[in-house]
Amino acid sequence: MNNLQTKHWIVDKKTDILTDNPQVKEAALWITNDEVVAFPTETVYGLGANALSDRAISKIFKAKGRPSDNPLIVHIATIEQLHNLVKGIPEKAKTLMDKFWPGPLTIVFEGDSSVSPRVTAGLKTVAIRMPDDPLALALIKEAGVPLAAPSANLSGKPSPTKAEHVLKDLTGKIAGVLDGGATGVGLESTVIDCTCNPPMILRPGGITKEQIEMVIGVVVVDKALLPNDETVTAHAPKSPGMKYTHYAPQAPFILVEGSPQFLQSLVEKEQKLGKKVAVLTTEENKHTYEADVVVACGYRRDLKTVAHHLYDSLRRFDDQDVDIIYGEAFPYSDVGEALMNRLTKAAGGQIIKEPTVTK
Ligand code: TXA
Ligand code: MG
Repeated sequence: MNNLQTKHWIVDKKTDILTDNPQVKEAALWITNDEVVAFPTETVYGLGANALSDRAISKIFKAKGRPSDNPLIVHIATIEQLHNLVKGIPEKAKTLMDKFWPGPLTIVFEGDSSVSPRVTAGLKTVAIRMPDDPLALALIKEAGVPLAAPSANLSGKPSPTKAEHVLKDLTGKIAGVLDGGATGVGLESTVIDCTCNPPMILRPGGITKEQIEMVIGVVVVDKALLPNDETVTAHAPKSPGMKYTHYAPQAPFILVEGSPQFLQSLVEKEQKLGKKVAVLTTEENKHTYEADVVVACGYRRDLKTVAHHLYDSLRRFDDQDVDIIYGEAFPYSDVGEALMNRLTKAAGGQIIKEPTVTK
């Protein structure tokens, strides 16, 4: 598995014709031969294999070093493909599909008995989404099978938002990468369980709770995801993947809730100890910091831009050999919810709060 000649197929989504495209065809041929191929989606790059082949699925787990109790999302290009994978389509799921597919929303259904337990990790449910990326849809159509695909990173690393991230993690371990440039959203899809009523958000992501509630009314959020909830340790998340430390850069990452001046004081303390200190900030605040490495990740006034750049920024610290990273926190509203979910995970729960000044 470690000596594959990983191919790099570059496709320009704007100008290249994707039907009968030679690169897409070659990638699809590898898929039908039970190999794994990385491809872009609108969220992050996925590591795709034939969802109907156990042999192919096992190669995904091997390439990523993924624990086998963590189920995969199945990616489809047409609604016909959905019917063979699920037992039924609940009314609210149908409404969500009409509104958000193709798009960054993964829906958990009751699985058809034909779906392999390798995909579902033995659960009775199956997670499915239709990605909003022309290259992803062309690949699925050309391969003629649904693609099981986790994010195309080594387990524990930040998800890849560029083909170069995939190549860094998986060269030699996979058949190839379809390179469609940087992904748009930058964070993974929202996962919503529609087998319960009200439906439950298992992972915050590209589609916000507010957007979902606009179309199907009240939904709940898996308690294990709520910040500062005392039950967190007692309550295992319903989405198996949410229990793993994820998205982590190599150096310890600490999230700071407070002013830039407070964060700068933490930087100086570590520098006095001889450490190489990095700061993850935004365009608005970057000039406030004097640290060894300062990475601005989008604009605070538009959290979508922060989401878009986040994983690339986290990966950049690994190239700079820093000892410790301090990152600014964000409000838990709209896409800020998904952003803080990922940042809290990257920090392994380490958050420093600025003491409030009492008069
Ligand atoms: O945006 C995305 O969702 C990307 C792109 C490639 O589509 N994929 C992605 O896959 O993030 P992955 O494997 O990194 O995350 C899948 C998440 C995990 O947390 C997993 O536990 C959860 O979905 N999941 C999959 N099947 C499930 C099921 N039947 N019930 C509950 N959670 C499930
Ligand atoms: Mg992942």
